[in-house]
Amino acid sequence: MKKNVLSILDVDDQIEEIINLGIRLKYDIKASKQIKVLEGKTLVMIFERASTRTRVSFEVGMTLLGGHAIFLTGSELGIGKRESAKDVALVLSRYADWIMYRAVDEKNLRELAEHATIPVVNGLDRFEHPCQILADLMTIKEKKGRLNDLNFVFIGDGDDNLTHSYLLGCSSVGMNVTVISAKRYWPTADYVQKSQEIAAKKNHMVTITEDINAVAHADVVATDTWVSFWYDDQRAQRLTDLKKYTITADVMKKARPDAIFMHCMPIYYGEEVTKEVAYGPQSVIIDEAENRMWAQMALLVNLLQ
Ligand code: CP
Repeated sequence: MKKNVLSILDVDDQIEEIINLGIRLKYDIKASKQIKVLEGKTLVMIFERASTRTRVSFEVGMTLLGGHAIFLTGSELGIGKRESAKDVALVLSRYADWIMYRAVDEKNLRELAEHATIPVVNGLDRFEHPCQILADLMTIKEKKGRLNDLNFVFIGDGDDNLTHSYLLGCSSVGMNVTVISAKRYWPTADYVQKSQEIAAKKNHMVTITEDINAVAHADVVATDTWVSFWYDDQRAQRLTDLKKYTITADVMKKARPDAIFMHCMPIYYGEEVTKEVAYGPQSVIIDEAENRMWAQMALLVNLLQ
């Protein structure tokens, strides 16, 4: 049966399997092994928002595995205006093997996923970013050698798609998760509750706090832009409200000495993080960006099984 990946919870029981496949593909292809397991397969990518990493990593990943990717912009398709998400889903399902969709309106993503007869992957919506969390967990596994029992700390805009995916994904693999933010930017309550339920079953904790000192004991420190696509009109307010949550070298010093720093990019230097930290020795941001490709290749292979 076809499976959609709109949330990391859609593959929560396969996260480690997908990550391990991503690591194997990375190792084998870098060693010049030809792995053309997606020969004859086509991924249709729909972008209603700008992208560097998601677009290029999916397209190059398809090429490396012998498949093909087609890039379509929102204005070309006009989902919800020129044509319904349902009709686009039904038609594209006859041409392609997966659809990756970065939607402005998550209702269109859900409608497309409901009616497509091929897997639909969320390329980031207002609430989640499942492809990014897979790449981030793969990066953590490479850097730390494990996922279980690590302390993951997110600092910044907590009411963000990636924060929600961190809450769900990191708790699913057995980490303690802490989100540090000003109260008005705390994550959506449903995500906190769900991640707390998942963490409790694994004897771990999910903590939401305003206290920057909760970064102590962090193995991983992560952040994201304070002003994602959806909040462009709140820019000045957000910069003021989140000012004390910039990740500086002093903040990193409060974490464990071997803590890594992560950011999904693009970065607004001097806002959520300083250049000193982003380009510093603890930063793994470029490995993280690279791993978008390997993790997604593994995900696409997994979805055809
Ligand atoms: N991190 C991320 O999704 O990057 P893009 O917006 O460039 O795809």
